[in-house]
Amino acid sequence: MIRRAAAAAALLACGVAAASELRPARDFLSPELRAQQDDPSRHPGWLWVEEGEALWQRGERSCQSCHGGIATMAGVATRYPAVAPDGALLNLEGRIERCRTQQQGAAAFGYESDALLSLTAAVAQRSRGLPMSVATDGAAAPFVEEGRRFYEARQGQLNLACGQCHDDNAGRRLRGDVISNGLGTGYPAYRLDWNTLGSLHRRLRACSLGVRATQLPLGAPEYLSLELFLAARAAGLPVEAPGLRR
Ligand code: HEC
Ligand code: HEC
Repeated sequence: MIRRAAAAAALLACGVAAASELRPARDFLSPELRAQQDDPSRHPGWLWVEEGEALWQRGERSCQSCHGGIATMAGVATRYPAVAPDGALLNLEGRIERCRTQQQGAAAFGYESDALLSLTAAVAQRSRGLPMSVATDGAAAPFVEEGRRFYEARQGQLNLACGQCHDDNAGRRLRGDVISNGLGTGYPAYRLDWNTLGSLHRRLRACSLGVRATQLPLGAPEYLSLELFLAARAAGLPVEAPGLRR
């Protein structure tokens, strides 16, 4: 307990709260990781992209049979999470699961399954380099507010809000990581430490654990609203999925 509190104090003591401009996730990567993230032939996440592109075409009622080639997905990831006509907030994973169950009439893939991660990576990759531009007005507005409240709330035994790391201490080191602006624009991402591709919600669970707060389930409504708020914060910054992380 005492060590945790001291760690939090030490972390925050160095926080000269700069009126920080948000910087793309890639700016915080080591030059080596950044180069590897840019190079499909050296990026292990590309195996998931390729698997996702194969899945896209597979079966009688394939994704392709309705949508056409996967190139039609260009720009889609910049608009997610988004509110569906029935009022539900869907991230890209949720949108794909809906097509899976309602359009294909098949059983859901399941969060963090290889199939869902692959399809999400393949779809998101088609927006690589394009600026984030989620809707924040109308039906989306209450979700953005909910996400903002989550982002600004102090949480866990360390009693830290997201921004105390990702705004006040961005660029500083913490347990071997360089703290980024916590945007989420590189997800799903291949993390060397995970030895696999993982969703943004998996990363959010790691941050919840990091401050000793309750880890919410993958796909939890709180994480969905938070994801929308992060995407709104990232407006204008490029999609980097699939990211590569240490
Ligand atoms: C039977 C036709 C059909 C099939 C098969 C289908 N979809 Fe869809 N998909 C749709 C329709 C219709 C929409 C638009 C729904 C809406 O506007 O709310 C949609 C929307 C989407 C979107 C959001 C597009 C946007 O511009 O916001 C994504 C992503 C998507 N589908 C992915 C997939 C994937 C991945 C598969 C295969 C696992 C798939 N779809 C299979 C009909 C289909
Ligand atoms: C104690 C400091 C700390 C707190 C508090 C914290 N995080 Fe993080 N977070 C990190 C570190 C360290 C990483 C890994 C390095 C990086 O990418 O920023 C990280 C990574 C992330 C990433 C992935 C960024 C990327 O591009 O890979 C996101 C998104 C994120 N955090 C969001 C959040 C949110 C939202 C909260 C609040 C619920 C939060 N974090 C709270 C330290 C923190």
